[in-house]
Amino acid sequence: MFRHDNLTVNDRNHLVIGGCDCVDLAAQYGTPLYVMDEDVIRSNARAYKNAIDKYYGGNGMALYASKALSVMYMYKIVAEEGLGVDVVSGGELYTALKAGFNPENIYFHGNNKTTDELNFALDEGVGRIVVDNYDELSELNTLCISKGKVAKILFRIKPGIDAHTHEFISTGQIDSKFGVTLENGEALDIIKTASQMEGVEVVGVHCHIGSQIFELAPFEEAARVMLGFVAEVKSKLGIEISELNLGGGFGIRYVEGDAPIAYDSYIEAVSRVVKSICEEKGLKLPRILMEPGRSIVGDAGITLYTIGMVKDIPGVRKYVSVDGGMADNPRYIMYDAEYDGVLANRAGDRPEETVTLCGRCCESGDILIKNAHLPSAKKGDIMCIMSTGAYNYSMASNYNRIPRPALVMVSGGKSKLAVKRETYEDIVRNDII
Ligand code: LLP
Repeated sequence: MFRHDNLTVNDRNHLVIGGCDCVDLAAQYGTPLYVMDEDVIRSNARAYKNAIDKYYGGNGMALYASKALSVMYMYKIVAEEGLGVDVVSGGELYTALKAGFNPENIYFHGNNKTTDELNFALDEGVGRIVVDNYDELSELNTLCISKGKVAKILFRIKPGIDAHTHEFISTGQIDSKFGVTLENGEALDIIKTASQMEGVEVVGVHCHIGSQIFELAPFEEAARVMLGFVAEVKSKLGIEISELNLGGGFGIRYVEGDAPIAYDSYIEAVSRVVKSICEEKGLKLPRILMEPGRSIVGDAGITLYTIGMVKDIPGVRKYVSVDGGMADNPRYIMYDAEYDGVLANRAGDRPEETVTLCGRCCESGDILIKNAHLPSAKKGDIMCIMSTGAYNYSMASNYNRIPRPALVMVSGGKSKLAVKRETYEDIVRNDII
């Protein structure tokens, strides 16, 4: 009945996730509440892992792009499922290490890693550093020499591919702060420079062409362009690139009309292209890496809220407010993102009206769903928004000094707290008067 297969309705007419009644979850943990279905996360992770085994002989690894949801429990799950991770900051790296994640399987990204972060990564033995630019390369080389280490690096390359996605989250094109450019020879030149350095060893190339993409073609094209470059590096510099990292960006279902394709089909398509080009150009098959973030956690998560004030402005619109909003989910205000929702305590009831579901921040754009089709909602109802597992908790803020919600994991009818709800004391913890 829902577009989200893991959600059902029980005989109390309540929404159920992972065998847990959402109304009970709201009562036990309070609202707003992030709820993650652990089985869905694991099955998403397995889809990528199994596809690399099946279509590419296991010669690669899926890396969970942990910016989508960086909490210790997630690093534990993905380690158990045999994935590596991509981290983009000292904070994500710290969280992964604190959760016991093997540093060898961590890829460290970022266009402006600080000196402290580079030192941290080197001292902890992070497996790969994805170098973004000349300044970083030169600093990394100096740090490595001073520590008597050699860092294994990949370069972030702009393959110049427009993946037809939201302007803010397309990163493959040339006008981007990320990476070095192929067309003007910069990418070749930086690899040549690195090959003469003592502190780094070039093992791979990386690209990331955007996010929330529903097509195979841009990934196939990225693989083609990147392997063309790998061949050029071999012929002009005599260097064999052994790792090809094609980034993330696989789309998920938020609302009707979103048409995600099976996650393993991306790996299948890319594997086919890589194998055929390598054969054609006489290249050794590289290890392949892909970095799904949203598609590991996005559809596994929901957010539960309690409905508060309802304001009907005749002839204009009806505002239905919840006890959260842009502080726990800033994606509408940032990207006009769309979501589906349902009243969790009357989950089987038919929609009766179209309302605007808004939050409680002092900001007119603090909206969660612009046109929500709901049964007539009243104070105390429990609202559920679907597909909030990615880029919600990880982008949450304390705007208006609102404490961040708790996050619970559910599976087989059991729930457990993975992140505690913040308190007012947490909010003032670092203030000094
Ligand atoms: N790898 C790299 C280098 C990336 O920059 C990203 C996402 C990923 C992997 C994972 O992409 P995914 O599979 O999650 O699409 N805050 C935005 C999304 C920003 C994505 C940034 N980079 C949103 O809420 O839609």
